[in-house]
Amino acid sequence: MANIYKNRFSEEVRKYLSDDEWLHVEENYDRLANYENESIFALTSGKMSSRGAHEEGFSLKSLPAHYVHGVFDRSEAYQRELVNTPDWAKLKMYVSLEPIALETGQGISDYIRVLDLKNGLVAKHYIHESREGRKTQVEIVKYMSREHQTVGGFRYYITPLNYEEVIEFENIIDATVTNFLDYPRFRVKHLTVRDVFSLGGDGVGVLTETRDFLQAVCTTAAVRMSDLNGEEISTNREFKPFGEVACEFFDAKPKEGQTIVIDKFAAVAAEKDGFDVRKVSEHDLRIAIEEGFEHHLEKNREIYAEMWKRADIKVSGDEKMQKGLRFNIFHLMGTPNPRDNMTNLGPKLMHGEEYGGHAFWDTELFMLPFFSLVFPEIAKNLVEYRYNMLPGAKRNAKKRGGLGARYPWQSADTGDEECPEWTILYDGSVEPCTVADEEVHVTADVIYGGMQYYLYTGDDEYFYNNLIEMLIETSRFWLSRLEWNAAQERFEITGITGPDEWHENVSNNTFTNYMTRWSLQYAAQELQKVQVDRPEIYARVAKKVDFDPAEIDKWLETAELIYVPEAAEDGLIEQFEGYFDLHDKEIYEYNDNNMPLWPEELKQYPREETTILKQADIVMLMFLFRDVFPMEVQRRNFEYYEKRTMHGSSLSPSIYCLMGVHTGNDKLAYEYLERTTYIDLENKNNNTREGLHAAAMGGTWQAVVFGYGGLTVFKNGEIHFDPNLPKEWSGLEFRFVYRGALLTVNLTHDDIKVTSDKDEKLNYYYNGELKEVEIAG
Ligand code: BGC
Repeated sequence: MANIYKNRFSEEVRKYLSDDEWLHVEENYDRLANYENESIFALTSGKMSSRGAHEEGFSLKSLPAHYVHGVFDRSEAYQRELVNTPDWAKLKMYVSLEPIALETGQGISDYIRVLDLKNGLVAKHYIHESREGRKTQVEIVKYMSREHQTVGGFRYYITPLNYEEVIEFENIIDATVTNFLDYPRFRVKHLTVRDVFSLGGDGVGVLTETRDFLQAVCTTAAVRMSDLNGEEISTNREFKPFGEVACEFFDAKPKEGQTIVIDKFAAVAAEKDGFDVRKVSEHDLRIAIEEGFEHHLEKNREIYAEMWKRADIKVSGDEKMQKGLRFNIFHLMGTPNPRDNMTNLGPKLMHGEEYGGHAFWDTELFMLPFFSLVFPEIAKNLVEYRYNMLPGAKRNAKKRGGLGARYPWQSADTGDEECPEWTILYDGSVEPCTVADEEVHVTADVIYGGMQYYLYTGDDEYFYNNLIEMLIETSRFWLSRLEWNAAQERFEITGITGPDEWHENVSNNTFTNYMTRWSLQYAAQELQKVQVDRPEIYARVAKKVDFDPAEIDKWLETAELIYVPEAAEDGLIEQFEGYFDLHDKEIYEYNDNNMPLWPEELKQYPREETTILKQADIVMLMFLFRDVFPMEVQRRNFEYYEKRTMHGSSLSPSIYCLMGVHTGNDKLAYEYLERTTYIDLENKNNNTREGLHAAAMGGTWQAVVFGYGGLTVFKNGEIHFDPNLPKEWSGLEFRFVYRGALLTVNLTHDDIKVTSDKDEKLNYYYNGELKEVEIAG
């Protein structure tokens, strides 16, 4: 492999980089694309994130952000949101008072920045020219320590190419940061700065706390400077507190052509249990310094190698797609905290601030299948989070006049509903926001996610300790929410919104009613099983939640009577009552980005009066129950709704890809795969600045594995592959963990090979034919 990109770096940096096939590359510095690139080049440690803002500072268009799992605050915001904590990723440089940075002096040349997906680092290279013609080569390598989770850092290689002068530096921690920096209307400062301090002449620190719950967050940082041989270079260090900015000044005078190396380490401590965050942060920083940059990179390489061993997907025949898939997997797998079951994942991961970092149904139906099958230990945290938030779900049910537990539409650290009842638009006008009240399907989605996790992992501990209690409480909620229609003798749910958010306040959304019925029946079936198989556990739980076995009968009776719109003679299912009476026109035009355009003929009507949808709704239901609905029904509904879906949500294209593959609409399916895979890399929804699209990432993985790979785990535990590789690929390889065994699946257009790392007999079905998993040699 030629490694055109890797070879653009000096030998020093090259040794840390993977080959080009693993590098996502920014070849030219484009100031206007900074916001998007800050999301794309963000790094995470499993506990915290750092957006890819340029470390040298002075970029005019920049939204630096550092989020820490579990640190939320509301203050003047309209919901509790992940707090933008102090920016430690800054180190400014000056020569003859002129900043060396991307947008200063006469400009830069030879710029390249890469995100190394294999090793989990960002590296860049350029030559800066000052106004007076001083040329400096700058190279920076940034990482977040996955070993420590609370440590991040970077290394600068600075080489004056045509001068010998003092270069001045500022090691900065900036606590002036806010959320929504560039939206005056929404800008909020969530932290009170308690102290800005020096670490005895070796580093700086900032002690802050959130304004609502007074949660302490301490950030410390220190630098080491040496020549290329590792000899420390003495500097004039001086601590300078500038209000809420902690700064340490130092300088160096390298010879012309001599490279100086500066390592910056930062440590962040943020806890709820009142431990001394300052002490912990300083302690972590000291260890980070002792271990050093090389150690951190080496450890990250090892840890990422282990992660990729499970998560990598290989497609032969489409290099761009290969890199795109890895890009999605990289960000998705790296963000949740593998050591914490009190936090979850937001729709933008921790890469931007939209949606406040809250858990939505996005977690269970889009991201969780990936984690349940690839990183079950992370999935366990995500499902346990919902159990831990059960008290919030109970408060939510009560608040809205229901019984049991009703999961909120948006969930942060308390489990209460975070979604406000109104939305302030960018022009300041206020609109009611009804989703918290109406998008009740989330409660069934949470159960579906738990069911799937249990099916894939067989984790009895979770099932008996968490899920059955959730089944009881959510079923109680459904019974209190369903409405009896005496005239029609059926239960209904009115005044709701289904997945398609452009039709609010509708009656009997098929997706919601179906999921509710499924959830009640699943709860009844599982509770009955526990009663017989594990009476002691049943008795314990029953006592805890005051459970009467007659409730099970009630669930079953009620479920039978829930009105679920059925397929008409032509196979079509109505999305909700009255949908077919709306103004109808198929979508027939697409923009340059291959995104649908609103049919001209419908422009005169408000969107809720048309059949045009925001996102997959009936097709989403078909996807979840694709082993239940007849294929003809799935095909008919796919083809009908596909022509009416605008994909106004990033959740939609992956589902249409998957169901396109499943129903044999191959050409369309591949277009949807491209749309979902490149949603951020090509900024398809024009909002990558606000963070990456986590649900699309999880959906993309599902589209490849469940769609093209054709993997279905049946409710009885059988593993089936009914693959349908696109003509663009010659092969597909992926891995997943099934009840403790890591399986590797190799597919070509007409063959399959499945190997296991465990010496245990396991069968699977390939296009209906029974086969045996091979044991890896
Ligand atoms: C979608 C929802 C989704 C939310 C967060 C909305 O635009 O319509 O389905 O849960 O974004 O991703």
